Amino acid sequence: MKLFFAIVLGLLLAACATGGAAIPEPESDGAKVFLAKCTKCHSWPHPSRHSEGEWDHYLDLMGTEMEKRNMKFAKDDKESIRAYLHKHAR
Ligand code: HEC
Repeated sequence: MKLFFAIVLGLLLAACATGGAAIPEPESDGAKVFLAKCTKCHSWPHPSRHSEGEWDHYLDLMGTEMEKRNMKFAKDDKESIRAYLHKHAR
């Protein structure tokens, strides 16, 4: 039984190691809002791609992009995404 768990754990670790671009904390609310809102026009950018300050800049810019297309970007959503991106920023 111990061996079985060791193998399963090994496979899981291998999956994590190869998925270098995997999304951090996929089960968190932040990740869910981020994926829901930020994949409508392009694929999601990895949170580690930018610093906190850069994310603030992009969030405002993306808010403008969404306005142009009459898409809603609720303040709550924006703030959850901001917190999520800051947490995993470069
Ligand atoms: C309404 C469509 C739309 C939505 C929704 C959208 N974006 Fe964008 N995004 C764009 C466009 C258009 C560009 C290219 C803008 C430019 O180059 O001036 C872009 C570019 C970017 C870039 C810069 C290019 C890069 O790959 O580094 C980042 C970062 C980004 N978006 C992040 C986000 C995030 C985070 C969200 C969710 C809050 C989001 N986007 C939602 C339209 C959108």
